[in-house]
Amino acid sequence: MIILSIESSCDETAVAIVKDGSQILSNIVVSQIDTFVAYGGVIPEIAARSHLEAILPALHQAFQDANLLTQNAAEADWSQIDAIAVTHTPGLLGSLLIGTLTARTLAILHNKPLYPVHHLKSHIYAAWLSSPKKITFPVLALIVSGGHTQIVHMSSHNSFEIIGTTRDDAVGECYDKVAKILGLPYPGGPSIAQAANGEISQAQSGPTALTKSQKPITTHPGDPNKYPLPIPQIAELDFSFSGLKTAVLRAVQKELNLPISFPSHQLAFKLSPQQIADFAASFQHTATKILLKKLQSALQNHPANSLVIAGGVSANQDLRAEANKLFPSSPSLFFPEPKFSGDNAAMVGTAAFYEIQSGVQPTDPLKLNISPRSAIS
Ligand code: KG4
Ligand code: ZN
Repeated sequence: MIILSIESSCDETAVAIVKDGSQILSNIVVSQIDTFVAYGGVIPEIAARSHLEAILPALHQAFQDANLLTQNAAEADWSQIDAIAVTHTPGLLGSLLIGTLTARTLAILHNKPLYPVHHLKSHIYAAWLSSPKKITFPVLALIVSGGHTQIVHMSSHNSFEIIGTTRDDAVGECYDKVAKILGLPYPGGPSIAQAANGEISQAQSGPTALTKSQKPITTHPGDPNKYPLPIPQIAELDFSFSGLKTAVLRAVQKELNLPISFPSHQLAFKLSPQQIADFAASFQHTATKILLKKLQSALQNHPANSLVIAGGVSANQDLRAEANKLFPSSPSLFFPEPKFSGDNAAMVGTAAFYEIQSGVQPTDPLKLNISPRSAIS
């Protein structure tokens, strides 16, 4: 079964063509990061307009890369496509609107069944793209993205139970906010990971912004034990990350001997590259510890054959290394390939494939709803 899938929930316009849930015929991701580096974060109205500009060229490119153009190579060969899948929730409303309107129109125009897919299901299913046969149920999935931090139990395909969730910020959001405190560029996750390795880039927005041509400064890799940060004691399997962000802020103020009234956006000017590397490493390591401690607790009452760690933050090398140490063999640990950790449409095609296998019926394109928030179910 060949599925054309579309993802536009945040700031990536993505189109993929995936065969039988794991064979990627094409995978186009048009990222808006370059636009938003200048703002230090996503501006929803600009994201929606950028999706509008990118979606049709991305669609054409997806058919071209998959060798699915008609003989004169001018048009997409829709006869090869069995179904269309699209992210319909959660996400930015304007961004979701562009992807879903495109998918609905194409479904009507080419008379194809349409499958709306939950974004977090897609993140989990990114792991099946790389290991389609090896992942066995029950599965415990830790979703770590910019908007969500959840532990989800799966007893079979398309059966999801949320057993833990964040009570405030998501871990990716925390990475992004801590990066701002340290004067590191958007998106915060990759720039904190680099800073922890001793490569300090500087923000291209806000008061700490320098010119674009500024090269990263290199220093010694950060010491993850230099600044001890607290592990939140949240009951059950829930997370909290807003306190960790404030703990970094307080630790920076203390290190610099500055009062809490000192403007937080000017703190980064006062830190040396080595201090930034040490703060980045200490924060990254604490975030990793919080995530893995909860995953380990979750396993006590929810035994699993397989663990999946997915979502944008799952690209993080410290998280991958520590998880591999903690779960060396049983249960088996799976990550998506790093290029499928962040938002992409191939994972949407995979999630839709397993939904269809589980008997999910297509949605009437005229009735497809979008929603900025909704729980995986
Ligand atoms: O899943 P994703 O691409 O989008 C959402 O669905 O939110 O996740 C984006 C998040 C951002 O907060 C970004 O800073 C974080 O993933 N991220 C990382 C890394 N790469 C991206 N966090 C830590 N380490 C990374 N290497
Ligand atoms: Zn995502």
